[in-house]
Amino acid sequence: MSKKPLILGIETSCDETAASIITENDKGIPTVLSNIISSQVDVHKEFGGVVPELAARSHIEKIDWIVEKAISDSGKKIEEIDAVASTAGPGLIVCLSVGLSFGKAFASAINKPFIAVNHLEGHALSPKLNSHLNYPYLLLLISGGHSQYLSVQGLGKYKRLGTTIDDALGEAFDKTAKLLGIEFPGGPQIEVLAKKGDPEKYDLPKPIFNKGGCNLSFAGLKTAILKIAKSIKTEQEKFDLAASFQKTVEEILNKKTKIAFEEFEKENKLKEKVFVVAGGVAANKKIRSALINLCEANNYKSIFPPIELCGDNAAMIAMVGLEKYKLNEFNTLDYPAKPRWPLDEKAAFLKGAGVQLS
Ligand code: KG4
Ligand code: ZN
Repeated sequence: MSKKPLILGIETSCDETAASIITENDKGIPTVLSNIISSQVDVHKEFGGVVPELAARSHIEKIDWIVEKAISDSGKKIEEIDAVASTAGPGLIVCLSVGLSFGKAFASAINKPFIAVNHLEGHALSPKLNSHLNYPYLLLLISGGHSQYLSVQGLGKYKRLGTTIDDALGEAFDKTAKLLGIEFPGGPQIEVLAKKGDPEKYDLPKPIFNKGGCNLSFAGLKTAILKIAKSIKTEQEKFDLAASFQKTVEEILNKKTKIAFEEFEKENKLKEKVFVVAGGVAANKKIRSALINLCEANNYKSIFPPIELCGDNAAMIAMVGLEKYKLNEFNTLDYPAKPRWPLDEKAAFLKGAGVQLS
């Protein structure tokens, strides 16, 4: 039996320092042997958002022992590692540079190949860590910096069907939380508050709901919340606003996902219709159940990463590394950090992001 690849993944694109060792079993199913994540919430809390310089400094302080712990927790030895995969973008350049340089140096020291990974591709492939997934599939990527519908044709092959024309969905959750006086990072707290509120209390706008295909827009929603938040007097009103916001997001995603289904089906001959939701916001249970119901009604199989792998982690980076390793797709040690690195480069550089709103 041939040795299964053992991949070290490293992630430092924003405010999580993470390292992971993964391999695959005899049936080719990926197996996570260790997954270490150190969040910097305490570093950035007092500033109400991520401060790049402080984030980079914290990555530098922690990266050594995070990688060491990932290796020791995996029960493997350094010399058994077959390749090192680091996030090269997109993200904060000062942060990316830490994990990227560390990964290159590590690969060079153990004389093994180095693989540069797109963080968004990590999210895109994260469901492979617990589910069998064939190409093509429709992906909704909803994170702190991105909100996109993508037709995923294969490793590195993405066609963007829709994107946000302003704020990302995670950003809308975070900004709403801030307006409600919730401490950074507030996005996940909205889900908690919403449970105690009346989702019908406030009628919030749904920007570009009836136009723009499956493109998204959340900035108008945030402005409406800003106005209402100023007049809020009781805790109950706060819960109601959180619940109304979350319900509005569910309605927007329901409508736009149906359009994305149609566009995806037009583009692909499908044996099986698969819809994957990934990125930090995919951890939201209300959004998950709304999209699961939509999939059931439209004959789609819905796939989500496990909740703990929705946010930033290095297992998803190692997952891309594993797929690239099997295809001998390695990178040289002069590979640059790419603060901007869209999955569908053609769409990203279209004038006005190529979004038709009429
Ligand atoms: O994927 P991710 O960890 O980082 C980026 O690559 O951006 O996503 C982080 C985003 C944040 O905006 C956070 O507020 C949001 O995901 N998020 C959530 C939940 N958990 C994380 N939003 C809504 N509900 C949640 N439960
Ligand atoms: Zn992310």
